[in-house]
Amino acid sequence: MIDAVKEEWQGPLFVRISATDYTEGGLTPEVQIGYAGKMKEQGVDLIDTSTGGNVLAPIDTFPGYQVPYADKIRNEAEIATGAVGLILNPIQAEEILKNNRADLIFLGRELLRDPYWPRAAAVQLGETIDVPEPYQRGWRFK
Ligand SMILES: Cc1cc2nc3c(=O)[nH]c(=O)nc-3n(C[C@H](O)[C@H](O)[C@H](O)COP(=O)(O)O)c2cc1C
Repeated sequence: MIDAVKEEWQGPLFVRISATDYTEGGLTPEVQIGYAGKMKEQGVDLIDTSTGGNVLAPIDTFPGYQVPYADKIRNEAEIATGAVGLILNPIQAEEILKNNRADLIFLGRELLRDPYWPRAAAVQLGETIDVPEPYQRGWRFK
């Protein structure tokens, strides 16, 4: 399947996985580390590290609850990972990236709540980001 995708798409390829489905006998990070290594050989660029699955197991959610899985897969399979799941503020995101626990941060609901999150994050972290060209007129006052 990855080979078929790569025939059609030559850009960056991310694959979302569930590192665990919280079920005995189910998906485990160790199994996924094996798959991640194979995907790396096939040219996958990044593992988008989530959890859950088709089994209705209870999930204990708290800020950064899936980050340890992104960290483990990144550092044991030696492939770039993206961290996702209740990543809520810029300092939290920076901690994950600077401590090499993941290579990218994905935001879901927090971006729905605050679409200007990246701009506020840049201000808070003392960075300058370019406004995408189609939006530039929206930032001017004349
Ligand atoms: C009850 C529940 C179900 C979830 N189901 C899935 C799923 O089916 N597929 C998936 O990739 N992630 C699933 N997730 C984890 C995702 O990482 C998460 O919903 C979302 O991407 C997190 O982003 P956010 O916290 O920034 O909104 C689930 C999480 C919870 C708490």
